Amino acid sequence: MSFQSTPELEAEVNELISHYPVKRAASLMVLHAIQERFGWISQSAVEWTAKKLELQPINVYEIVTFYPMLRQEPQGKYQIKVCRTLSCALGGAYELHKHFCTKLGLDAHKHGPQTTPDGKFTVEFVECLASCGTAPVMMCGDAFYEGVSHKKADEIVAACK
Ligand code: FES
Repeated sequence: MSFQSTPELEAEVNELISHYPVKRAASLMVLHAIQERFGWISQSAVEWTAKKLELQPINVYEIVTFYPMLRQEPQGKYQIKVCRTLSCALGGAYELHKHFCTKLGLDAHKHGPQTTPDGKFTVEFVECLASCGTAPVMMCGDAFYEGVSHKKADEIVAACK
């Protein structure tokens, strides 16, 4: 969904800003509110946010590019996040990520999130999901999966179709 300001967004952002002594301090919360509605932070969203906070677009852009959880591109309907921190890496996370990429026609060696051309799946690595004893661990949307075999990965994808 592309960015367009609405009266509801204006009201939400004005409310957020009111909680801070200076407008700039609300930057992260405003960006989260935009991402919650639109799924990502576009260039026009950056410019709109800068205007609301009385900043330059670069001040907002540097936040968007710093935090990995802020998205600079539209995401797939289903977001597959594979933990790659030590326990999961040792437990097969890289093989699991490669399995998802191969199955969905994505490049397993490319850095960062990748989305299928039909906009259905985004696959990415994330850091520790706090279940290190049950590696490899992953999420699909809000659902959490532990000890994920390649067979289980296939079932997760199939359930999304
Ligand atoms: S290392 Fe994967 S959950 Fe902690």
